Amino acid sequence: MQLTVNTSKPYEIIIERGCLDELGGRCAALFSAGAKAAVISDSNVFPIYGERAMASLREAGFAPSSFVFPAGEGSKQLSTVGDMLGFLAQQGLTRSDFLVALGGGVTGDMAGFAAACYLRGVSFVQVPTSLLAQVDSSVGGKTAVDLPQGKNLAGAFHQPALVLIDPDTLGTLPPLFFSDGMGEVIKYGCIRSRALFDTLRDAADLTPQMESILFSCVDCKREIVEHDEFDTGERMVLNFGHTLGHALEKAHSYTGLTHGAAVGIGMVLMAHLGEHMGLTEAGTTEQIASLLEKYGLPVSDSTPLDQIVEATALDKKGLGGDLRIVLLRTIGDSFVHRLPRAEFARLCREAFAEWEGR
Ligand SMILES: NC(=O)c1ccc[n+]([C@@H]2O[C@H](COP(=O)([O-])OP(=O)(O)OC[C@H]3O[C@@H](n4cnc5c(N)ncnc54)[C@H](O)[C@@H]3O)[C@@H](O)[C@H]2O)c1
Repeated sequence: MQLTVNTSKPYEIIIERGCLDELGGRCAALFSAGAKAAVISDSNVFPIYGERAMASLREAGFAPSSFVFPAGEGSKQLSTVGDMLGFLAQQGLTRSDFLVALGGGVTGDMAGFAAACYLRGVSFVQVPTSLLAQVDSSVGGKTAVDLPQGKNLAGAFHQPALVLIDPDTLGTLPPLFFSDGMGEVIKYGCIRSRALFDTLRDAADLTPQMESILFSCVDCKREIVEHDEFDTGERMVLNFGHTLGHALEKAHSYTGLTHGAAVGIGMVLMAHLGEHMGLTEAGTTEQIASLLEKYGLPVSDSTPLDQIVEATALDKKGLGGDLRIVLLRTIGDSFVHRLPRAEFARLCREAFAEWEGR
């Protein structure tokens, strides 16, 4: 399966079982023979898939090298990107060379940021291996690192030259990270595709349908990103459940509750808020909650409501005194709603107390 993302710099997304071995051949269509390729990966992914990626690049006539950093969000820092940039310079990469991000969202975000900075911008190829990276972070050109003051505070928009998604790599992904990614997959169903939502609800085993599920998610992100490459409007619907999710992650000090789990709870609460406001079809919250539960994700949390509401009202996605929130009309149909912060806080308190006490 193949898609073209028509952003300022268009690029292809390939979704195909086993396509990791085509990495070199696919890059040969984009870069000159003999070009240097720096494979950026983490300490979990490189030992499993690194040699296949390097061999494929070598066979296609490229000169690959590798930079491997310790796996985990803790590495997503300026210092790691600094080391990465030093490595690229040491290897003598020029603007006709390229980077390959082989790994999850942490790898893609950092390699993309390094590619945006190195020599004021070199090309990079995304080879996402986690579910979250395959359906979300590898597409759309957002790159970033965390600062001590908060997540993803330094970054750049830099679109990849190619995205190569091999669903077979999910076979080695630890189950916790698989369900984490399912939070985002379910989100796409909620915001854009009733058909995807129903497939997820009805499937006994996702494996045989994984390619088409990944395609649906990526196609949804493609469409939204094409309309709003630099995140000034429509792209906001991708944040359904995220504002509350971030507040919950923060309340848990970014440990104990995964991003997907936090977003899942956020989606449930926002659906319930929409129902409470009479803007979301009755019964939507229950449908989302039972789908999340099917994939092992929680639908409520013990964090005090006031703490969540307060953190949410301070969220950066505000607009002057107003907040813009993402709500559903029904499953598959989302919209952005603007309301005063104080009103939002009041409605949340009412709606969330109702949900917790159900
Ligand atoms: N740029 C964007 O648009 C965007 C969107 C969403 C999230 N993100 C970012 O993505 C990051 C989270 O991504 P993530 O969950 O992929 O984190 P991650 O990159 O840390 O990967 C999760 C874990 O799975 C391991 N792993 C990945 N693929 C594997 C495989 N196939 N087999 C075995 N182990 C594997 C990794 O080593 C890591 O331990 C966050 O930093 C978040 O901010 C970015």
